[in-house]
Amino acid sequence: MEKEELKNSRREALRKMALFGTGAILFPSVNLFAGTSSLSAASFKTRPYLQNPSPTAMTICWIASTNSFSWVEYGETTELGQKTIGKKHGMAVANNTVNKIRLTGLKPATKYYYRVCSKEIIKLEAYQKEFGMTLNSIKFEFTTPGESPEKVRALVFNDLHERPASIKALLNYNTGIYDFVFLNGDLISEFEDQTRAIKSVIDPCCDNFATRIPFYFGRGNHETRGAHAFNFSDYFDSPSENLYYSFTWGPVYFIVLDSGEDKEDSNFEAYGGLAFFDEYRIEQKIWLEKELNSPERKAAKYTVVLMHIPTHHAGDWHGTTHCRQFIGNTLNKYDISVLIAGHTHSAYYCPGCTEHNYPIMIGGGPADGKRTLIRLEADSQELNVSMLSDNGTTLSKLQVNAKK
Ligand SMILES: [Fe+2]
Repeated sequence: MEKEELKNSRREALRKMALFGTGAILFPSVNLFAGTSSLSAASFKTRPYLQNPSPTAMTICWIASTNSFSWVEYGETTELGQKTIGKKHGMAVANNTVNKIRLTGLKPATKYYYRVCSKEIIKLEAYQKEFGMTLNSIKFEFTTPGESPEKVRALVFNDLHERPASIKALLNYNTGIYDFVFLNGDLISEFEDQTRAIKSVIDPCCDNFATRIPFYFGRGNHETRGAHAFNFSDYFDSPSENLYYSFTWGPVYFIVLDSGEDKEDSNFEAYGGLAFFDEYRIEQKIWLEKELNSPERKAAKYTVVLMHIPTHHAGDWHGTTHCRQFIGNTLNKYDISVLIAGHTHSAYYCPGCTEHNYPIMIGGGPADGKRTLIRLEADSQELNVSMLSDNGTTLSKLQVNAKK
């Protein structure tokens, strides 16, 4: 290695360390060159981002640039002291770049410090293994949710369509603290490659909150498009194996549905025979009925449904009408506090009408002047949902009294 080249590589490493430090709370203990005598191209492609929170668990995701063996070090002090390796079928989850490691056995309502580590894999032959350098991130922190918190506060973004700056711009209008963020689809316009997820979702979320506050992702129809759409679930974690799921946070039972695509599955030009969203929506309708009849849902003071394509007020393309037929008619039979959606690129609120007896709030679109931030806050007395425009004015407000 020539001297100048070495200097440049170290400069690049320092640049990455500085980049990686955004949002961190401690000075780095980065050791980018540990474990190898030669310089390597290995680096972190993203900071860690939090997924699928629970009072006793948290999933940490990140992407490394080269195939690695990875783990998370964490603890209640900056000394860390605990370590979790992803394991499956008796082996470490290794030789991969996209990491999703779940920390379990955590204490509720407790602050944890953590860092992510990826050891580069040089050779993985049957009887010969060779590892390169170990990347150690700087330390970050998060706080687990309480066991049964009195309140929940959440923010919802939708339809940003690859305009990452919109996240910060809209967050400027939020004044209070929030427990989690919900991405309600179409943040990526065409999911052609991993870079789309990094630039449109992971980096801007990490810039603003995701290293310390978790986000859930409800898939939009645009995230089903493009070659990398088939890898969507590699990057995000949810409380179930599916992209539709439920979770309770404080007084609210949240139900997340995956509304699929907007055109008929038979549209060969769009889907090439690879789409089966009709049967997928019917599968969700069956699941939804069970969810709505579950004791946990019935015990909750509010039921909030999140899905990208709304059941109503979104035209009459196939996706909407199919959602209306199978999801809307089901929701009409239960006491739904609100359905929060997107897709139409036009902010809209309907408190209920002859077509649906539950309120529907539809977030805006990607263009300046159309963008919205939806804020949800609930306690034992009432649920409040408000939609703000990208100049900070309140477009719509909803208040629901707690179920007795
Ligand atoms: Fe959409």
